[in-house]
Amino acid sequence: MSEKTVRVELDARSYPIHIGSGIWEQYLLPLTVGAEVALMVDDNVAAQPWFAALRTKLTVSAAKFVLLSVVAGEKTKNLSVFSQLCSELARAKISRRGKIIAVGGGVVGDLAGFVAASYLRGIALVQVPTSLLAAVDSSVGGKTGVNLPEGKNLVGAFCQPVAVIIDLDFLQTLPSRELAAGMAEVVKYGIIRDPEFFELVKNGAPRDLSRVIEKSVLIKAGVVANDEREETGLRAMLNFGHTIGHAIEQTTGYGQWLHGEAVSVGMIGAAWLSHRLVGLPLTVTREIYSALVANKLPVTISGLDFARLAPVIAMDKKSTGKSVNWVLCPELGRTTQNNKVPDEMLREAIEICAGRKAI
Ligand SMILES: NC(=O)c1ccc[n+]([C@@H]2O[C@H](COP(=O)([O-])OP(=O)(O)OC[C@H]3O[C@@H](n4cnc5c(N)ncnc54)[C@H](O)[C@@H]3O)[C@@H](O)[C@H]2O)c1
Repeated sequence: MSEKTVRVELDARSYPIHIGSGIWEQYLLPLTVGAEVALMVDDNVAAQPWFAALRTKLTVSAAKFVLLSVVAGEKTKNLSVFSQLCSELARAKISRRGKIIAVGGGVVGDLAGFVAASYLRGIALVQVPTSLLAAVDSSVGGKTGVNLPEGKNLVGAFCQPVAVIIDLDFLQTLPSRELAAGMAEVVKYGIIRDPEFFELVKNGAPRDLSRVIEKSVLIKAGVVANDEREETGLRAMLNFGHTIGHAIEQTTGYGQWLHGEAVSVGMIGAAWLSHRLVGLPLTVTREIYSALVANKLPVTISGLDFARLAPVIAMDKKSTGKSVNWVLCPELGRTTQNNKVPDEMLREAIEICAGRKAI
């Protein structure tokens, strides 16, 4: 496969996203030669066959090296682990010139990013995403943070990386459930931004992921470049399916459902609301449903109910004043925001998400 570089254009904070097979040494080693390096990883990724070589080469190229290992999974994304990681950096005497290299999925990326944004008021961050979800979404755009018991990603910072290195060889060891979870965000890009891309992915993940990753990253980079801090409303479109998705993750306990799985079910709810409130044709609503099924994603979660989800949705951090910013989709490739969703309509959408009502 040919190698590709997509740039996130943010003036002085612009950075490249390199995508290709067997590319990590070419791009990562030059950033670490003679540097103070903190390599952050979860225990699951650390056990993958390719990780030992990466670790060894970084140990050799860095002037100072510390390995920060965390337990894999969403529950790790909390303030206590954040604090432990900062202490480990301090004990290793990593200075302001230090670099954090985040190798792993979105959990490690979000946590490492928040540590990079905070430790000594900010040190450099390099994202090396190894899950599909991290490659197409969380490693790009600079949102970092941790969860609170009160909600997901409630504490965090914007911290753009100096580079994102997506080596497709690393993704080879990704379990199929995790691959499917990443496809949820890929399908989302098609729904919100690009009907042709939706066509490409609606029948399932292609064997060669390079095009899917490149196109997804191009869409995300374009949105981020025009609304880095979610101020103009453009970036908020990326939250399609996430209002219900985040509430599912929270009410079922972080980790029971993968982020992408919860977003998949959330997109079913958002597609239904789009049909009922902003005119998304029923045929397209059903096409979205089929696309998520074809990508081996859950489209219902039994036991979801309005009484538990609605208060959590009302707490959504993207709320403006008293109303939640619902992102809906009147037609493939386009979104509208600040939609008002009456309770009875949300109740209906949740019935669909729970599988008690058919689309
Ligand atoms: N910052 C953002 O803009 C943003 C966007 C979307 C999602 N997120 C966050 O990302 C997180 C979800 O990310 P995720 O789905 O990558 O979860 P994750 O980080 O938990 O990774 C999923 C699992 O796959 C394993 N894994 C990763 N790469 C592997 C590989 N190459 N081989 C084998 N196993 C591998 C991990 O160890 C983990 O067990 C959530 O916390 C979510 O809130 C952040």
